[in-house]
Amino acid sequence: MGKMSRYDWSIKTGITRVNTSFLFMRFWMLLILLGLAGLGATAKAEVSAEPLVWNVITNEYTAKPGDISAHLFFMATNVSSAEVTIDGVKTSCGCTSAKMPSDPWHLAPKESGRMDITVDLRGKTGTLLKSVTVLSTNAGKQLLISVTIPPGGTNTLSPEMANRMWNQEMAAADRQAVFKGDCVKCHLEPAFGKNGAALYKVACGICHDSPQRATMVPDLKIWAAKTPIGTNYWKGMVAHGKPGTLMPAFAATEGGPLDQNQIDSLADFLKAKFPSPEEPDSDEDEDE
Ligand code: HEC
Ligand code: HEC
Repeated sequence: MGKMSRYDWSIKTGITRVNTSFLFMRFWMLLILLGLAGLGATAKAEVSAEPLVWNVITNEYTAKPGDISAHLFFMATNVSSAEVTIDGVKTSCGCTSAKMPSDPWHLAPKESGRMDITVDLRGKTGTLLKSVTVLSTNAGKQLLISVTIPPGGTNTLSPEMANRMWNQEMAAADRQAVFKGDCVKCHLEPAFGKNGAALYKVACGICHDSPQRATMVPDLKIWAAKTPIGTNYWKGMVAHGKPGTLMPAFAATEGGPLDQNQIDSLADFLKAKFPSPEEPDSDEDEDE
């Protein structure tokens, strides 16, 4: 099977699906019209109003060379006079994620809201057709996404590099992403039950001591040598990280893996391992 045949197949499948649901809708419309003739005005008001109007039903996106993800969005407006509740969304594959503004998502009458979509393009070629199913008792909907990847696409990156770019992008959107989903096996689980040096190696060293780490990740030895910090600084940095960057917060209270004892043991280890010019808080153990 060459690339072209997979491409053709997915296009055809997509079209077949659209046609089927279109015919299906025609069928229902016919039944409804027939029914209306007998039921009169009350029934008409109920069946003809779709409470949610979407800005598009099929959203198209053309990736730029080197893109490892596609970002799209759908806007929904509640045109009815009652609140609409969307209970959830289901996507046609694990490579597509849909984020509602809240879960469940409530839209008051006349309210609009936005659902963000991310499609993972790593290792993909050609045209991808994905669906997003909006689950609601009275406003269910099937939305479609078509992403065209230019020749060459993401394939100019090695799979390892594409994974790293993807991970960095996930962390840029949410610096606590390292403690969620697939990331946990490398960034969260190894820290369970460890303290001191062993904890440093798996929790911090994974990023800060990697020989091929990204340029924004500082060498902590060099960094500490020119920064006047002490144990309390380390406790705070480990617990809360650095908001607005890829540096995560490790405290369990912020979604990280570490309890207070682990944070304290790590801070003691860090202070000894990375000497600093001055220690403004050499008067230790004034927690936080
Ligand atoms: C297979 C283990 C593994 C998984 C899974 C993993 N990482 Fe990493 N991560 C690493 C390693 C190792 C490094 C250090 C850089 C290197 O050597 O590639 C790193 C570095 C990072 C960095 C620092 C920037 C950089 O690239 O140097 C960020 C941010 C990051 N990972 C986020 C994530 C996120 C978010 C996920 C999940 C979506 C994730 N990682 C999944 C092993 C992993
Ligand atoms: C997922 C990768 C990752 C892990 C794991 C990680 N860091 Fe970081 N860290 C970063 C990045 C990225 C930066 C650079 C932030 C920036 O852009 O300023 C950073 C910056 C820092 C800084 C400098 C802060 C500043 O003010 O500039 C310190 C100190 C630090 N990390 C300590 C730690 C410690 C201690 C741990 C272990 C508990 C840790 N890091 C674990 C990615 C990581």
